[in-house]
This record gives sequence, C-alpha cells and structure tokens, in this order.
Amino acid sequence: MPSGPADQSSPQPIEQQIDHSIEHPVLVVDFGAQYAQLIARRVREHRVYSEIVPHRITAAEVAAKKPGAIILSGGPKSVHVDGAPTLDPAIYDLGIPILGICYGAQLIAQQLGGTVGRGLRGEYGRARMTRIAGSTSTLLPDGVPDEQDVWMSHFDAVTEVPPGFVATATTPDAPVAALENPERRIFGVQYHPEVVHSPYGAHVLEQFLVRLAGCEPAWTMTSIIDEQVASIRAQVGTGRVICALSGGVDSAVAAALVHRAIGAQLVCIYVDTGLMRLNESDQVVETFKRNMGIELIHVSAGPRYFDKLAGVTDPETKRKIIGELFVRIFEEHTGGLSDAEWLVQGTLYPDVIESGGSDGTAAVIKSHHNVGGLPDDMTLKLVEPLRLLFKDEVRKLGHELGLPDEIVLRQPFPGPGLGVRIIGEVTPERVTILQHADAIVREEIANAGLERELWQAFAVLADIRSVGVMGDERTYAHPIIIRAVTSDDAMTADWARLPYDLLETMSNRIINEVSGVNRVAYDITSKPPGTIEWE
Ligand code: XMP
Repeated sequence: MPSGPADQSSPQPIEQQIDHSIEHPVLVVDFGAQYAQLIARRVREHRVYSEIVPHRITAAEVAAKKPGAIILSGGPKSVHVDGAPTLDPAIYDLGIPILGICYGAQLIAQQLGGTVGRGLRGEYGRARMTRIAGSTSTLLPDGVPDEQDVWMSHFDAVTEVPPGFVATATTPDAPVAALENPERRIFGVQYHPEVVHSPYGAHVLEQFLVRLAGCEPAWTMTSIIDEQVASIRAQVGTGRVICALSGGVDSAVAAALVHRAIGAQLVCIYVDTGLMRLNESDQVVETFKRNMGIELIHVSAGPRYFDKLAGVTDPETKRKIIGELFVRIFEEHTGGLSDAEWLVQGTLYPDVIESGGSDGTAAVIKSHHNVGGLPDDMTLKLVEPLRLLFKDEVRKLGHELGLPDEIVLRQPFPGPGLGVRIIGEVTPERVTILQHADAIVREEIANAGLERELWQAFAVLADIRSVGVMGDERTYAHPIIIRAVTSDDAMTADWARLPYDLLETMSNRIINEVSGVNRVAYDITSKPPGTIEWE
C-alpha cells in the first residue's frame, strides 16, 4: 500500500473510483417495499459486494455495471395489476446469472413465457417445501434436506414454468416453489431465502452467488479498507480535510478511516454541547486524541448552549438553537484552517439508495444530519467514505480500524443530544439528572446482555412533578421515563418487552442514586404513533 497520496491529480467522483475496484457487483433490483435492502445485506454477508438498483434500470445500464449476478427482489404488487413493475426483458438475454425472489420469481415466469396463477389461496408465514421427485436441482444444494421450512408471503404463484425451465420444489399452496433453467443460469424461488425464518436460505443464496454465478467472495473488511484508503487519497490529494465528530458511530468510523488514509491531513472537531451523555466527551477525546493520535479540536461549549437555551421550552425552537449554535461554533473553530477543502460526512448506504419504489417513481435521497446540520453555504467538498455501507458493516469496519466497543457498538444518538430528551427548559442541573439516570439505564441494559437486541435504550426527563414518599419524607420531584425500542431502521419501532426484573432494578437504582427523581415510568408506545425520541 502506498504511504502517501496515491494520486494527486484532480479528483473524480467517488463512484467512478470505486467501480474499478468493485468490479462485478451483484445487482439487487428493487421492486418495492423493504425487501431489497435485506437481500443486499445478505449478499454481502457472503462477502460479495451488492448494490441496489431501481427496477427501471435498462439492459444497457445493467451491462455497463458488469455485474456478477442479478437478484430480483420481492415486491408488494401482483404481476397482474396494471402498472406492476417489470424488468427490461433484454436483461434476461445478457447471459448474467439471475435469481428471482417471490415477486422476482413470478416476473421471470411471466416474462419468459410461463404462467402466474391468480386468486390462489396465498401463503403467509412458514410453509413446508418439498423437492419435486425426479427433478434435479442445481439451486438447492445437496446439504439442503428434501423437505424444509421456508418463509412465504405471496398471493399469486407460478403455476407453469417457462419453456426451458424445470420446477424443482413445491409447497402446499405454491405448485412451483423453485424453478430453474441451469443452462441460462436463471433461477427463481417463491419463498424468501433472505429472512431468518427460512433456515436454509443462506445456503441457497451462497449456492447461487458463489457456485452458480461464480462471484468471488472477496468483499471483506480488509478489502473495504484498502479500497477506501486508495479512493480517499485519490479524492483529496494533499488537501486539508475536516471532520465534525458527534460522538456517534458513523462520524467516528468515517474519521478513523480517513485518518488511516491521509493521517495528519485530517483535523477533527468535537463540540461538547454540554448535552452529551455521561463521560461521552472524555471518551471521544481519549479515543481520538490519545489513542489514535488524530488532531482534534475539542470545544467545550456547554455554557454557551445553556445560555442560549435558557427559558426555551418549545421542542422545535430548542432543536433550531442547538443546530445553529453548532454551525456557528464549527465555523469559528475551522475558520483558521483556511486551507481546508474537504469535509468528512458519515453518510451511509441507506441514505443514498435510489429506491425503485413499487410505483416506479419514488427516488428517496435523504439528506444527512449527523451533527445537527452544517452551514448551508458551505464551500467544502464532501468526503463520504461510508456511502456504500450498511450500519452493521460500519460497526465491523470500526472494530477493524481499532475503535473501542464503547464507540463502535454505541446506539444512535440524536444530533441535539440530551436537549431533546429533557422536556421543557434545558438547564445544567437537569442535564446532570438525566445523564445519571441515562447512564443507569444503559448500564443495566448492558448487564442484562440486551444491548445488541435493542435499537436504543435511554432515559427521558419530564418537566412535571409528582408526589412521593421516601423514608418518612414527602417528596415532590420529577419522573424519569425509560424508553427502549427495537427497530431495523428507526422508520418504525416497537417498544421493547424488557423483563420486569430489569425494569425494577433500573427503577430502584434511578430513584436511590439520582437526586431530584422520585418516580420512574416505562414508555410503551411504538412508532408510529409515537416517535422514538420525545421531542
Ligand atoms: P424519531 O424520534 O424521529 O427518531 O423516531 C428516529 C431516529 O433518529 C434519531 N434522531 C436524530 N438523529 N439528528 C440525528 O442525527 C437528529 O436531530 C435526530 N433526531 C432523532 C433518533 O435517536 C432515532 O434513532
């Protein structure tokens, strides 16, 4: 690996640089809903790089990407309804191995001359799938039993395979649960091999990717680091790069990766808003400055935040004040770095996927707001070294780069910090109360070994008071609300069914150890209708 910038000529867009290192991606064609992302993640678990593409992609666009294989995702529609999404038929003739899943399998059947039956009984949930006697399957590998449970979610089903195809498995309500044309290397399964409820799903995906399509399992954390290091060097040349650390996983991993690539050209800025979790600021400084030797501008801005937030109770106004002050402080402290050209952002793959959307129109590109918003008129160019990665990959990458568990396994934390978990006015005293209660919640969740099962678990401080009794004394103090949720992507969330014993321990400890609190409540609201945060 070269030790300095590899290429100091004018930077090209990052995708162009990556194209020639990730030469043959698996394209996951998105037919709507959330199926495509899960499939793309599963492909990557087999160490094969995957990309999600909209179903409107043309054969020429597919060919230009030189994919190793194509997977057609499931989707919420019936192939028979008007306007149901289809695939450019010329894609079938490119000679690229194709696996259709659920809707994708039905589409293969329909577009290549088979039949998809309507108004059948449908199958939802677990179903028993059996190999069809006398058929030879190349898709269902030898290690897969003749009968197995699979996860189904379909109404229509393939009833007749296209010419050249054979049906190799069946379930009670899907006469053709697997179809294949080994010569053309086109395969379809009615069930969902990507979900954990299909116990042999991973075998089948591996069989398709590695043995039938010949994809090389070379997408490893080391290869990602090597590729990104080369690409960051090529992109920024000798320019100065700035990174705003939020204390969260994404900016931490992005900074570590950029530092690996360009060392001292990177300067990080960490604004302690006074609204961070207990000991969080010390940990960020310890990790980045002392352990990793990254140049870090540490701004202790708590008093400025409290000053601006005094008397403010409206949630949106609080968010706005916190965001604007961040921008001002960021500018004040980076203004001196007049040679800075680049800004690191921890943008992830789900933020940049152009969704196929079932109606074929949705193009969702979210703007990222890692640290609570950055200047609108910012002239810095962006370095986004995580834009090809899913969250779980970012965490693995963080480990590989030597970041500690406390940072890598950290739960999402909102840009405005504890400011949106203190209902009503934000004061230093109230932040102290919440920091301690929150630390207890997270510590007990960790002691119970539940950290990884939860999306987030934290405490909220309400601005009401209630009467209690402690010892012989009447108390009139604040309640702490515990919020713990499970979620895949924070778009929806379910309140976590925490064990009563754990709730009891948290409640006892909070009331005994945190002065100013005399009651603990547990939030049992899912999202929707609630949001995860309280403000
Ligand atoms: P809600 O409360 O909208 O939160 O259900 C969804 C997820 O987003 C996080 N969140 C934020 N993250 N800046 C961020 O970077 C913010 O302003 C912000 N507000 C909410 C929240 O913690 C949850 O994971």
